[in-house]
Order: sequence, then C-alpha cells, then structure tokens
Amino acid sequence: MIRIIFLILLIFPLGCEKIEKIFIEEDILDRPPSERCSECHTKIYKQWKNSRHSVAWVSEKFIKKTKNRTKTKCLSCHAPLEIKPEEKPELRDKLRKEGVNCFSCHYREKTKSIHGPYKVFSPPHYSTYDPDYISSKICAGCHRKTYKNWKKTETDKNCQDCHMPSKKDRLVQKFPFTYFHSKKDLHNHSFPSLKAKEKDFMVEIIKDKTGILLRIKNIGIPHTVPTAQQGSPKYYITLSGIFKGKNIFKDDYMLTPESGLKPGKWKELKFFVDTKVEKVTIIIERKLSWINKKEKVLKKIFSF
Ligand code: HEC
Ligand code: HEC
Ligand code: HEC
Ligand code: HEC
Ligand code: HEC
Repeated sequence: MIRIIFLILLIFPLGCEKIEKIFIEEDILDRPPSERCSECHTKIYKQWKNSRHSVAWVSEKFIKKTKNRTKTKCLSCHAPLEIKPEEKPELRDKLRKEGVNCFSCHYREKTKSIHGPYKVFSPPHYSTYDPDYISSKICAGCHRKTYKNWKKTETDKNCQDCHMPSKKDRLVQKFPFTYFHSKKDLHNHSFPSLKAKEKDFMVEIIKDKTGILLRIKNIGIPHTVPTAQQGSPKYYITLSGIFKGKNIFKDDYMLTPESGLKPGKWKELKFFVDTKVEKVTIIIERKLSWINKKEKVLKKIFSF
C-alpha cells in the first residue's frame, strides 16, 4: 500500500507523455522472445504456451510432412514475421521455434508499435488501437480455407468469439502496472479447438426398401466440420443396426475437410441395411489433426 501511495505521489505531477518516458522499455519493440511479454502479460503468455500456435514450428507432424522443413512454401504460416489481415505472411529468420508467437501477431512495422483491440495507456511499449483485431480478417491470412467458408455464412460471430472466449481480468500482472489499469475482456490465447455439441447438428433417418438414408445438417458451426488449411482432421459417422436384440449391421463413413458438413447444408449418407432392422444407433466422432484419438461428438438411437 505504501508503495502505491508513493508511486501516485511520484507520478501525479507528471503528464502522460512523461510517464511513458519513465517506463518505456525499448527492447519490447525489438522482436523479443515471447517470454519477455510474459513478465507483464503473464496470464496470456501461459495460455499461448498451451496453444497449437506455440508449437506450429516444432510439431512432429509438421516436421514430417514438410520433409524436415525443407518445403519452403510450407513454412511462413508456421513461423510468420508479421501477420496482416487476409495476407499470407512472410517467414521470419529468428526464434522460429516459437511458431506463431506474440510479436508476429501483435507488432506492425508500419507504426512501429504493438497493435491490439483496445485504446490503452501502456507506458512500457507503444500501442495502437486496431479494429482488425476484432475481425476474422486477422486469422484469414493463414486459416484461408476456413475463413472463405465462414465468410459465405454471413454470420456476425467472428473466429475470436468462439476460439478466443473472453473473461474480465487484468491484462497485466506485473507491479505497478497492474494497478494502473482497469479489468478488460481478456481473450483466451490458448485458441481452443473446441468440439461440436449435439445441438450443432440436425439428424434425420429415412428407412426405405434399400436401406437407410441418414441426413445430417450442421446448424451450429459457421464453417465446415471438420475444417482445415493443411491439417487432416476427420469426422467418423458410424451406423449400427439391431434386429431382435442382435447386431446385424455396422458401417461407417469418414468425412474430411473436403467432404465435411457444410454450414446449413444437408449431407445425405446411404447405408445398405437389411430392412428388417428395428433399431439403429448413430455415433459421430471426430479426430483433430494433432491428436491420434477419436472423441465422441454425438450418439442417437432411432427405433422403427
Ligand atoms: C494468432 C495471433 C495471436 C497470437 C499468437 C497472440 N495474440 Fe494477443 N491477441 C490476438 C487477437 C486477435 C486479439 C484480440 C481478441 C479480441 O479482441 O477479440 C489479441 C488480444 C491481446 C491483448 C489484449 C487483451 C485481450 O485478451 O483481448 C493482449 C494484451 C495480447 N493479445 C497479448 C498477447 C501476448 C502477450 C501474446 C503472446 C504470449 C499474444 N497476445 C499472442 C491475437 C494473437
Ligand atoms: C513491462 C510490462 C509490459 C511488457 C513487458 C509488455 N507489455 Fe504489453 N502492455 C503493458 C501494459 C501496461 C498494457 C496496457 C494494459 C491495460 O490497458 O490494461 C499493455 C497492453 C498490451 C496490448 C493491448 C494493446 C491494444 O491496443 O489493445 C498488447 C496487444 C500487448 N500489450 C502486447 C504485448 C506484447 C506482444 C509484448 C511482448 C513483445 C508485451 N506486450 C510486453 C505492459 C507490458
Ligand atoms: C500466422 C498464421 C496464423 C494466424 C494469423 C492464425 N493462425 Fe491459427 N493456426 C496457425 C497454424 C500454423 C496452426 C497449426 C499449429 C499446429 O498444430 O501445428 C493454427 C492452429 C489453430 C487452431 C487449432 C486448430 C486445431 O487443429 O486444433 C485454432 C483454433 C486456431 N489456430 C485459431 C486461430 C484464430 C481464431 C486466429 C485469429 C485470431 C488464428 N488462428 C490466426 C496459423 C495461424
Ligand atoms: C460459432 C462458433 C464458431 C465460429 C464463429 C468459428 N468456429 Fe471454428 N470451430 C467451432 C467449433 C464448435 C469447432 C469444433 C468442431 C469439431 O471438431 O467438433 C471448431 C473447429 C475449428 C478448427 C479445428 C478443426 C476442426 O475441424 O475441428 C479450426 C482450425 C477452426 N475452427 C477455425 C476457425 C476460424 C479460422 C474461424 C473464423 C473464420 C472459426 N473457426 C469460426 C466453432 C466456431
Ligand atoms: C496459408 C498458411 C499455411 C501454409 C502455407 C501451410 N500451413 Fe500448415 N497449417 C496452417 C493452419 C492455419 C493450420 C491449422 C489447422 C488447419 O486448419 O489445418 C495448419 C496445420 C498444419 C498441420 C496440422 C497440425 C500439426 O501440427 O499436426 C500440418 C501437419 C501442416 N499444417 C503441415 C503443412 C504443410 C506440409 C504445408 C506445406 C504443404 C503447410 N502446412 C503449409 C497454415 C498453413
């Protein structure tokens, strides 16, 4: 407390410009490692460390698929220099192992400052309010296919609304800055992949003489599921049939980003089942590109 009062007394007679001169830490704008940002933005750093962005360069699959990073056309989105809305980034020279890091997403050479979603008073480094950060365009240079797909739906939810959910908190954890600033919406920098919920799909079954027609519509996610730029996530749709308590049938379809569930469109899958079937169970599972495990999305049972 005494320290705070002392600080206020010290700072009170000075204008904002002078405060910036006292607190400016010039190396912050000199492409430092992300750990430098963690001194103040401790919470955001921890989240980012847990994100796929932080492993984009060191991911085993990426190394394998790019033949030990020799395929040059593959590299720039996995270790970008500076991201710009809707543009494919350039590859940077330094700190590539950090993948898509703080500096590449937030620094702009044009203004020589840190860009972000707020108008802030940030004495240690210059900041610029930039509305691109609350637009899906900021993700579009790399997530190109998903973005195109999303745009067609004309939804007002942007990528960040779902993949960077927010919570009121302080952006800075370091003394004394933490006391100078009010809480704001802190957006989750672990960029969760999320998982579809049952209510995201409409499922219908039509039985006829030749078997079962399964109809599925993606009504909750404003891009194809699964979706990918270069990864290979999958959806698995398994149908099994029961007659007099016995399993008489089981078959499945695998969906890729090319054949996936487009927003608002029915997908029809035909299963050739013996028509005496009395009950069918549908299970939908997904597998992300970087997890070798299937996860259940929904299970539905239909009786005839
Ligand atoms: C993939 C790009 C990306 C990376 C990597 C990234 N950020 Fe962000 N950051 C954003 C976007 C986009 C927003 C704005 C989110 C919004 O307002 O919807 C943001 C917001 C912020 C904010 C304002 C508070 C908030 O959460 O909205 C701070 C501070 C911040 N980032 C710091 C960092 C730090 C520190 C790192 C590294 C540990 C980092 N960011 C890594 C894209 C990124
Ligand atoms: C010595 C402390 C300190 C360090 C180190 C630091 N920042 Fe900040 N930063 C701040 C303060 C203070 C604010 C303003 C916080 C507020 O208004 O709540 C801020 C705000 C921000 C914002 C929001 C800008 C906006 O206009 O929305 C971003 C983004 C950001 N910092 C990114 C970074 C990145 C990236 C690094 C590392 C390269 C970094 N910061 C290092 C103190 C720091
Ligand atoms: C510089 C290019 C780039 C930008 C800009 C970018 N990303 Fe990414 N993103 C990647 C890469 C590369 C990966 C894959 C990393 C890996 O798994 O190896 C990724 C992975 C992800 C994942 C995890 C996907 C999965 O398969 O689990 C999500 C979610 C994500 N990004 C969301 C976003 C959002 C939201 C934005 C905009 C705020 C954004 N990204 C901006 C390059 C980028
Ligand atoms: C309304 C919420 C919502 C919005 C908006 C949204 N997503 Fe998603 N996204 C999801 C959900 C839910 C999943 C999980 C799907 C699954 O695998 O079950 C997902 C999955 C992903 C994945 C992981 C791969 C996959 O198929 O599981 C990536 C990458 C991704 N989204 C990127 C984006 C980008 C880029 C944008 C903006 C252009 C965006 N998303 C907008 C909800 C959303
Ligand atoms: C335009 C930017 C861009 C380029 C170029 C790019 N990637 Fe990616 N990559 C991404 C994004 C974004 C993701 C996140 C998941 C998704 O949407 O596929 C990703 C994810 C991946 C993944 C899955 C995640 C993981 O670590 O397992 C692999 C593997 C991958 N990329 C390999 C490649 C290869 C190989 C090339 C060259 C043929 C390449 N990438 C070029 C943007 C790019």
